[in-house]
Amino acid sequence: MTATRIDGKAFAAALRERVGSHALDFASKAGRKPGLAVVLVGEDPASQVYVRSKGKATVAANMESFEHLLPAETTQTDLVALVEKLNADPSVDGILVQLPLPGHLDEKAVIAAINPDKDVDGITPTNAGRLVLGMDAHISCTPLGCLLMLREIYDDLSGLDAVVVGRSILFGKPMAQLLLAENCTVTMAHSRTRNLPDLLRRADIVVAAVGVPNLIRGEWLKRGAVILDGGINRLEPAPGASKGRLVGDVAFDEAVGHVRAITPVPGGVGATTIAVLLRNTLVAAHRNAGLAVPEGI
Ligand code: GUN
Repeated sequence: MTATRIDGKAFAAALRERVGSHALDFASKAGRKPGLAVVLVGEDPASQVYVRSKGKATVAANMESFEHLLPAETTQTDLVALVEKLNADPSVDGILVQLPLPGHLDEKAVIAAINPDKDVDGITPTNAGRLVLGMDAHISCTPLGCLLMLREIYDDLSGLDAVVVGRSILFGKPMAQLLLAENCTVTMAHSRTRNLPDLLRRADIVVAAVGVPNLIRGEWLKRGAVILDGGINRLEPAPGASKGRLVGDVAFDEAVGHVRAITPVPGGVGATTIAVLLRNTLVAAHRNAGLAVPEGI
């Protein structure tokens, strides 16, 4: 059996296209574009790349991008003051504070200062609580992208066995809640889990995001399972190469002959995150303007 390679780039392009066209409709009704503010503290190169890509994608989707690039020494007081200013700014519908923050800052307190209606990352205590309670919530972009991809594969997820590997606040925890809400039987595995292979052998769906290259071997996976790999790990460079290859948490070449569908790295789960962020911003804009959220977005 040859598995289907799930094309995250194509999925993201289609979603960006829909969002961009709804953003034009929004502007004609609201008299302004949906606005997304991104806050980056410090000069982490990977974060700088993400933030630049977010800004470009926001503008390409007919939205307003507000970038706040702050020095690494920014104080807690100044950062929280900026978040409060963005909370109060009617042209800002979504706020994303790029994580991780430099060590001297209290990440949890900064997150808690974000107005939950503008929390397009779904990481405030209010949105995390609303998700658990089954209420309307903003949901973290990468797990929501995974769910939207799963819905294109399965008509109904009820009763499927799902294993989520990793328990981060942006990925593993919300992913498990989303799958539970779809009536999956969900197991959460993490770095202290004993006997991961045995758990994975019965899983119809595996969602991985632990940051351990090729941790999950092909032979551990059930034939016919669907695998979403959120890991992005850079291997040591080969002799003579300047950069190592990017690989996921799942040994792709082993798994691909074995499972029903799998996302590659790169070009899988990671490729969808920004498109989902734009989707969440579009939804926030409609709610903040008192307009009906477009169907099926
Ligand atoms: N850092 C890496 N991914 C993300 C994300 O999705 N949201 C935030 N806030 N920070 C990140």
